[in-house]
Amino acid sequence: MKKMLYLLSCLFAFIPFTKTDYLAAVVEYRPDQSTNSIEENMAKYYIEIENAYFDHHAEIIVFPEYGFTGIVEDPTNYALEVPDVGAQVTLIKKFQILYKIAQAAKDKLYVALNLLEKVPKSKNEIIYYNTNVVFDKNMTVVAKYRKVNLYNEPKLTPGDPNQNTSIFTTDFNVTFGMFIGYDMLSYNPSRSILENSSITDVILPTAWFSTLPFFHSMSFHSGYAMANNVNLLVATNHNFSQGIGGSGIYGSDGIALSYYISEDVDRWNGKPLFSVVKDSMTDNNCLESELPKRIKNNLENFQARRYFDSDHYTFKDLNLTHQNISEDICEGSFCCSFEIVLFSAVNTSEVYKLMVHTGQYSLGEFKRNDVRICSLLACETSDSSTCGTANVTVTSKFQSISIKTNVKDVHTKFYQPVTLTTDLLPVFNTTYHSEVNNGTRSIVFSTNGPEERVLVFGIYGNSGIREVASLTLLIATMLMYLV
Ligand SMILES: *[C@@H]1O[C@H](CO)[C@@H](O)[C@H](O)[C@H]1NC(C)=O
Ligand SMILES: *[C@@H]1O[C@H](CO)[C@@H](O)[C@H](O)[C@H]1NC(C)=O
Repeated sequence: MKKMLYLLSCLFAFIPFTKTDYLAAVVEYRPDQSTNSIEENMAKYYIEIENAYFDHHAEIIVFPEYGFTGIVEDPTNYALEVPDVGAQVTLIKKFQILYKIAQAAKDKLYVALNLLEKVPKSKNEIIYYNTNVVFDKNMTVVAKYRKVNLYNEPKLTPGDPNQNTSIFTTDFNVTFGMFIGYDMLSYNPSRSILENSSITDVILPTAWFSTLPFFHSMSFHSGYAMANNVNLLVATNHNFSQGIGGSGIYGSDGIALSYYISEDVDRWNGKPLFSVVKDSMTDNNCLESELPKRIKNNLENFQARRYFDSDHYTFKDLNLTHQNISEDICEGSFCCSFEIVLFSAVNTSEVYKLMVHTGQYSLGEFKRNDVRICSLLACETSDSSTCGTANVTVTSKFQSISIKTNVKDVHTKFYQPVTLTTDLLPVFNTTYHSEVNNGTRSIVFSTNGPEERVLVFGIYGNSGIREVASLTLLIATMLMYLV
């Protein structure tokens, strides 16, 4: 009887849904990389689509970057042709695989997936892209996006920075934008796409290399959703031994409605994550509480990368014997003001530092020229190179943390929060406020309540100018001027 009542209340809970609330599914998936991998993966996608629809009434499902093939360097044997936006996928040989996927979703839900796309240019020339494609319930391609900011993908061609096919509006009345992976670190497209103000929701298929301390998957994704006030659906490829993982459905306040980060080896039949993504304040706890929402295993073997060139950053120690701390820290003209209130009983042998950096930041081969970061960091020892590692353990409790910065407002510059606890989850209960007055952007980022196990609490900014991504391009340009 109790169960019956519960079910009934769930049924009623559907009623207050406003038109633009919807149920989303994202799949964290470790692709099969056997010889028939595309067929194998396609078959598994098929099952995920059916489960998402029949068991959970999902209205859209998102699959990860390189989900069809695994992360392969040579696209030759893996790439597929993709119909143009507006075309219905038909059962002709070159669209066979996509036809099966579109058919699985027919009359059920929207499917967003990522694949290697091939475009025959002439008899001897084929070009390859890293592409997202979205099918509607009618087997029509409603959107397509080719990755602009490639990362270690030498055989692929970057998408046109001005492509305009990556936005679509669903029959449940939500307008989505999308891009891929580390595109999120560049103004174009991750911020430029939001110049279209009808976009309220963003789709991110990715194979996200979680990188400490500032680019861990959930940390960065949550910060993006919060700073831009959009819902965000992230589906990442899964390979914990390379630090690839951390999927979630984030509300526009940056809070994960559901998430998954784990060092399970296998995750194809990992159930998708589901969540009602809300446009309104409608409460619907019943439906959510039924679903597997938050999964995080011990992450001891989750091999996040780390890029932290501490010799080039500016630090200031936090004196934990003081309960109220007010410090400014600058590098060049970029300054941040920290207001920190600690609880009285702290272990004063723990080490916290304030850090600021402006200029170059390297993520391996992905170098950026005009990064700005300021952050509170927990450290293993007083040596700054030990700040923000996965080995830090801290017990100090903060009553509040607040960071302020004022920067010149430049169109293509963007900022967002970055936070992590020592559990490698974002600090969720925070407020981010950013406003422009007379050409100055004022940002305030604060906790809403007490926090502990804080590893990273900061603001990240970027100019949007892609730096020396391709030395070859630079040389090619120089040669052009020489001839
Ligand atoms: C921290 O503050 C206390 C009290 O003001 C002072 O005695 C101590 O020297 C400070 N520690 C450091 C490392 O500055
Ligand atoms: C205080 O922190 C230090 C450094 O992290 C640690 O070695 C020590 O065990 C801690 N003491 C207590 C009582 O927790």
